[in-house]
Amino acid sequence: MNSINLNIIGRYVLLSLFVLLIAGCAPETPPDQDIDFHTFANVDEVVVTHMDFDLNVNFDEHVISGRASLHLNNITGAEEIVLDTRDLTIERVTLDDGTEETTFSLGDFVEYLGQPLSISITPATERVNVYYQTAPHAAALQWLEPEQTAGGRHPFLFTQSQAILARTWIPCQDTPGSRITYNARVQVPEGLMAVMSAENQKEKSPDGVYEFRMPQTIPTYLFALSVGDFEFRPLSDRIGVFAEPEIIEDAAWEFADTEDMMGDAEEMYGAYRWGRYDIMVLPPSFPFGGMENARLTFVTPTIIAGDRSLLSLIAHELAHSWAGNLVTMATWNDFWINEGFTSYMTNRIMEAVYGRDYAEMLWHLDYQDLIATIEEMGEDNPDTRLHLDLRGRDPDDGMTSIAYIKGAFFLKMLENNLGRERFDNFLQQYFNTFAFQTMTAEQFLAHFRETIIEAPIREVPAEDIAQVELEEQLKLDKWVYGTGLPDNCPQIQSDEFSRVEEQIEAWITDTAASELDVDNWTTHHWLHFLMNLPDELSYEQMGELDNTFGFTQTENSEILNAWLLHAIEHRYEEAYPALEDFLLSQGRRKFLMPLYSKLAETPEGIEMAQEIYREARPTYHPISYHSIDEVLNWEN
Ligand code: BES
Ligand code: ZN
Repeated sequence: MNSINLNIIGRYVLLSLFVLLIAGCAPETPPDQDIDFHTFANVDEVVVTHMDFDLNVNFDEHVISGRASLHLNNITGAEEIVLDTRDLTIERVTLDDGTEETTFSLGDFVEYLGQPLSISITPATERVNVYYQTAPHAAALQWLEPEQTAGGRHPFLFTQSQAILARTWIPCQDTPGSRITYNARVQVPEGLMAVMSAENQKEKSPDGVYEFRMPQTIPTYLFALSVGDFEFRPLSDRIGVFAEPEIIEDAAWEFADTEDMMGDAEEMYGAYRWGRYDIMVLPPSFPFGGMENARLTFVTPTIIAGDRSLLSLIAHELAHSWAGNLVTMATWNDFWINEGFTSYMTNRIMEAVYGRDYAEMLWHLDYQDLIATIEEMGEDNPDTRLHLDLRGRDPDDGMTSIAYIKGAFFLKMLENNLGRERFDNFLQQYFNTFAFQTMTAEQFLAHFRETIIEAPIREVPAEDIAQVELEEQLKLDKWVYGTGLPDNCPQIQSDEFSRVEEQIEAWITDTAASELDVDNWTTHHWLHFLMNLPDELSYEQMGELDNTFGFTQTENSEILNAWLLHAIEHRYEEAYPALEDFLLSQGRRKFLMPLYSKLAETPEGIEMAQEIYREARPTYHPISYHSIDEVLNWEN
């Protein structure tokens, strides 16, 4: 071996020692990061690789019933397979071709997790067929009455499987750690249409029978079904939108830029691997903004603002086609592996399509949200870590701005340090290398160190010092395993928002609202304006703003939400009818929770909240009303 090689090895060993030293000073790495504490499934013994469904959707009884056939890979020759269920009635279970019935038992109910379903198999069993039905109150399902839809004539059903609700409508190994393909045959009432997170037909079946095929492997939280009176409109040759006929026109107009987003995302992160990308616009009770169901994103109609101003949500769900759907968090503890990457990519896609100023505003809004979240949670709160410890808790507890925004800023910090080109290449390779696989925080950091921090030293020994510095500079472990926000978090400057702040200042000092310079302000300018108004506002000031800018009348859900929070805070009663109307007409938890919480701060507010809630609760999704029940101490 010549001296150059020795030199390289020597430096490499030195560097590794140094990296270990730094890592040693950082917060401890939790072991066994790939163990999912939110599943009963014995996935280390036997894994489900494919599912076939034959289901019937009964709108009269609010029940889905039928058969789920699970194809097995029995790794250890196990004699039992354990599945996740919650509120399912299991009628019988057969093996293989169905001639042989087998024994099964449901274990004790565990909060959040439901009940383990243990089924006897043999090492030679290839398939188990579970005959089952769902409960009318199944948490993943919302059964809508016709009057809760835009058309008002037909009922509607949709599912929401994330986080661990797939088990309330499908007996399965409900863990993001395993992936499966599926086929389904679904019978719905004649005249209704059905779509799934799979290949979909674009027209109604006359007999109400729909067949689906999902050829790419997905985790169970991406299983989805929607049934109702909707139709399809193409936006490009691989993108389209499903919506009720009454809103399909508006939806198609609003989402027209999706192909542009896709093109830019592919350029940065590699080919879209799922065939089609369609968007399903659900009725307003959908509890989320969006849900990245494979091939078929579900969205709330509250993003149809009429001016394409709330499309970062589409960019977000689209970005999940790489972050989350392709490379998936191994457990809920690494929710940031899905949402942090996605939130970063969202702003990159928005920058590519709408420009730098636009993206800077998004980053700025994100940053304010993050700072407020950390302040509220406390800097030392363990839940301000990216890698969480959700054992024994509802995985929904991890659904905070930490995973989303601290995660996004972590990646932005990496981008700033490595340079955009190098970091984009890294991400594209990351998605390629780990496509259709799972990822933990530990694996990600190891991969990053191997390909970025340590790689150059093997190739260009002279760079080792720089690499040692890089490790020190990035503070990787601090970001992932430490609480609060590391001091190398990127600073955000938005010139557009500086303009907004100047106008707020002017209004507070002496300028009338009608004299403010708000020309060409977009939704995001207005949001920044509303979120940075002074804490104290008189009734007259609220009235002046409202009369000048018409906030109470706005059709934009985000602006209305921000305004209504002020209205409650400052008892601006002129907006109360609009508040009531907003709480009764949509069920997005992101809007409902802050509004009901704000109301709950005063005795009169609580009274008003309860009155509205009594009427609204039956129209909300279980995900939303479970959260609000807690805020209002609601006893049903
Ligand atoms: N995957 C999430 C929704 C989710 C997370 C559902 C965890 C259940 C448990 C989705 O991609 C999402 O993040 N939606 C956001 C929109 C986004 C623009 C931040 C939402 O619905 O608010
Ligand atoms: Zn998301």
